[in-house]
Amino acid sequence: MNTKYKQIIKKAYEASKYSYSPYSKFAVGSAVLAGSGKIYLGTNIENVSYGLTNCAERSALFNAFSNGEKQVKAIVIWTSLFKVFPCGACCQVILELAENADIIIKTGKDSFKIFKIKDLLPHSFNRQNL
Ligand code: THU
Repeated sequence: MNTKYKQIIKKAYEASKYSYSPYSKFAVGSAVLAGSGKIYLGTNIENVSYGLTNCAERSALFNAFSNGEKQVKAIVIWTSLFKVFPCGACCQVILELAENADIIIKTGKDSFKIFKIKDLLPHSFNRQNL
């Protein structure tokens, strides 16, 4: 893992501390390394209606794009558990906004593995379908 990726992993961990997850008590942090080189953070924000919950990955991606970014080099998903992959909704959003990004997943206490969205969502509804 290169230095920049180590840095965004730490940032994703820090973002998880801001998790608003009173229902699941499952804190997730995400960090996006955008095309400009800047880092954008996100965390999961739950809602009493449950369905309005926003996952950490989508929060981070929307944060990056809301600040004018158009490309994503890498995105980290951080939880205290291992091998937590983005949910289906987040995979669809990653496909839309971060198709070529490295997706960094925690696989052990101090180990991380890089995936691509095509690994996680091999068959998708995508822009070629329209
Ligand atoms: N969650 C994320 O933020 N990202 C994931 O990849 C998995 C799930 C959140 C949503 C909800 O707040 C909590 O984790 C439990 O599902």
